[in-house]
Amino acid sequence: MMEAVTESATDNGGTAEVDPRLEQERTLAAPRRRYGLPARALFLTMDTVYGRGQSIPTFRVLEVVARMPYQAWESVAYVAETHTHETPEFARRIHDRVEEARHQQDNELWHLLIIEEMLHRQDHRSRPIRDRVLPQILAFVYYQISWLLYVVRPAWSYRLNADFEDHAEHSYMEFVRAHPELENEPWHSAFEVDYGRHDTVADLFRQIALDERAHKESSEERMEHARFAPSD
Ligand SMILES: [Fe+2]
Ligand SMILES: [Fe+2]
Repeated sequence: MMEAVTESATDNGGTAEVDPRLEQERTLAAPRRRYGLPARALFLTMDTVYGRGQSIPTFRVLEVVARMPYQAWESVAYVAETHTHETPEFARRIHDRVEEARHQQDNELWHLLIIEEMLHRQDHRSRPIRDRVLPQILAFVYYQISWLLYVVRPAWSYRLNADFEDHAEHSYMEFVRAHPELENEPWHSAFEVDYGRHDTVADLFRQIALDERAHKESSEERMEHARFAPSD
C-alpha cells in the first residue's frame, strides 16, 4: 500500500485507482489513532509553540521532524547488518528495511522542500529561533527517542511513527477542507519532476496526506512483525 501511493508521488503521476477527494473524505471521517504518550508530548509541544490548527509554517516543522524515525531506523539496520553478515540471507532481509526507510525518508524530504518553496514564494518571514532552531531541537530529540525505542523494542518506535503519520495525514486533509480556495490555486514547483505533477495546491496537499497515510500503514504493519529475527 505504502509503495503504491508513494511511488505515484515520485513517479510523476497519480494512481488511476485512487480518487484523492474520496480519500480526503475517508481520512476526515476516520477517527484518529489513540496516540501514545511520546506522540502526545510531541503534539502538545508543537501546539504550545506554534499554536493549534494547521498552517504552512507548522507543516514545515512537521516535515523537519518527519524524516527522523526513518533516519534512525536506517542507521540501526545498518549496524544490524554489520552483526549479521555471516548469515547473508538474513542480512539481505534487514537491508530491505534499510531501503524502505530510505525511500520514506526521501518522500518526506520532497514534502519539506515543497513546503519550504511555498513559504519562500509567500515571502514568509522566518524567525530564527522559532522557525529554525526549535524545529531542529525537536528533530534531534525525536531522532534520539525513535532510535532508543527502536533498539529497545522496535514495535514501540513504529507505534510512535504511526501516531505521528496519522496526525500528519489528518492535518493536511483538514487544512484542505478549511481552505477551499486551494482548489483553484495552481501548483507549480521546481520539484515536480522529483515528486510528481499536481494541478492545484489542494491536489498537492491531498497527495502529501496520502503519502502520510501510506507511511502510517507501513508502520502499523511493522508493529506486528517488528523484530529482526533470522526466521522473519
Ligand atoms: Fe511528510
Ligand atoms: Fe510521513
